[in-house]
Amino acid sequence: AITRTLSIIKPDATKRNLTGAINAKFEAAGLRIVAQKRIHLTKAQAGKFYEVHKARPFYDELCEFMASEPVVVQVLEGENAVAKNREVMGATNPAEAAEGTVRKEFALSIGENSVHGSDSDENAAIEIAFFFAGIEIVG
Ligand code: CMP
Repeated sequence: AITRTLSIIKPDATKRNLTGAINAKFEAAGLRIVAQKRIHLTKAQAGKFYEVHKARPFYDELCEFMASEPVVVQVLEGENAVAKNREVMGATNPAEAAEGTVRKEFALSIGENSVHGSDSDENAAIEIAFFFAGIEIVG
């Protein structure tokens, strides 16, 4: 089925001017960017987005990092968008990411790993609604 996922191009990538290179990989894989904006999160906003990770030891570092530079938040649409996007991103830890994936090519570390993508259709709906109003998503 054609579905949607929430993607974030993270500070390490926007800082190195990799937005277009990463978007090219999404598009080459058949994902369509149906909404996109560049924003600079506050630490509080990052904390709210990553609330499920609140108990993790890396939570504070993660929120600091996500608020350190602008990010590009986007809605990707395509056949099984969540799984397709995760395939294009590669493993969370770039050391384990497959050849040709975004994280293999661009990520610096497990924290500075260039992109975020929703992990299920259910979370995609929640994460899309966190950043976008329906009127901003143009399929
Ligand atoms: P993301 O898909 O954005 O969801 C949670 C993020 O936490 C994850 O990508 C990683 O970038 C980050 N993360 C996971 N493990 C660690 C870790 N050990 N240290 C720092 N950040 C981490």
